[in-house]
Amino acid sequence: MQSVLYTKFGEEPPSEIKLLFSEISELPDSTEQGLYWDGKELNFHWYDEHHQVERAVSFNFRETLSDLQKKLGPPPKELLGKALGKGECLTVWDLSGGTGRDALSFYHWGHKVKVFERHPVIAALLINALRTQPKMMERFEVVFGSAHEMSHYDEPEVIYYDPMYPDDVKKSRPRKEMALFKVLTGGDTDQEIVLDWAINSGAKRIILKRPLKARPGVGESNPKPTASFKGKTIRFDLWQRG
Ligand SMILES: C[S@@+](CC[C@H](N)C(=O)[O-])C[C@H]1O[C@@H](n2cnc3c(N)ncnc32)[C@H](O)[C@@H]1O
Repeated sequence: MQSVLYTKFGEEPPSEIKLLFSEISELPDSTEQGLYWDGKELNFHWYDEHHQVERAVSFNFRETLSDLQKKLGPPPKELLGKALGKGECLTVWDLSGGTGRDALSFYHWGHKVKVFERHPVIAALLINALRTQPKMMERFEVVFGSAHEMSHYDEPEVIYYDPMYPDDVKKSRPRKEMALFKVLTGGDTDQEIVLDWAINSGAKRIILKRPLKARPGVGESNPKPTASFKGKTIRFDLWQRG
């Protein structure tokens, strides 16, 4: 396994990012692949064999929030907002961070958000994106790890879960980021366990994002959802508690 951290000009990355580098040990071997810190930006580079091109990705919360401001309506107009229901400044836990875009939708609507991401490279990109927007930290937190494997001192009102889709489903997410998740994670194989944990937690609403035509839940053991909110290609299943 090669080293996966490259720095330019001998600059050290910020300590919260550097901490995660010791966790990055399970990347596929490739000379093109790595996290690059150039003194200002953190990028992940990899070679996309399918398209025969080199790719790079970083997350920028300021840009994503400004895009959401333009595109995202108030909650009752949006499918995700309908699943979220009414309530101000709700405590929302996003169990599957990814790019952070869905979590940023909750933040944009005024909620208090905690995002969990278990892959160290993706977590490093999220933590770096938040580091550059310190004002957001009052209502937005990124945690490296899986919520269902941790002990908690607080509990959420809402849990949101968006695991990787099955391989045979066409994805509507931007190609580059989906390609990154695929290279790094290889799919989320513990979806049934995670969803069961969420449904049995103290949260009042549990929202699961699914491809439109997938069956309810993610496994045999999951109870039927209370409601489903259907879009053109995706669906949000909701379990309401209490
Ligand atoms: C489909 S992506 C989520 C996309 C995300 N909703 C967004 O807005 O970009 C799935 C991500 O969740 C992470 N993930 C999946 N299950 C997880 C778990 N149980 N704990 C922490 N992270 C998880 C994966 O590593 C991957 O980065």
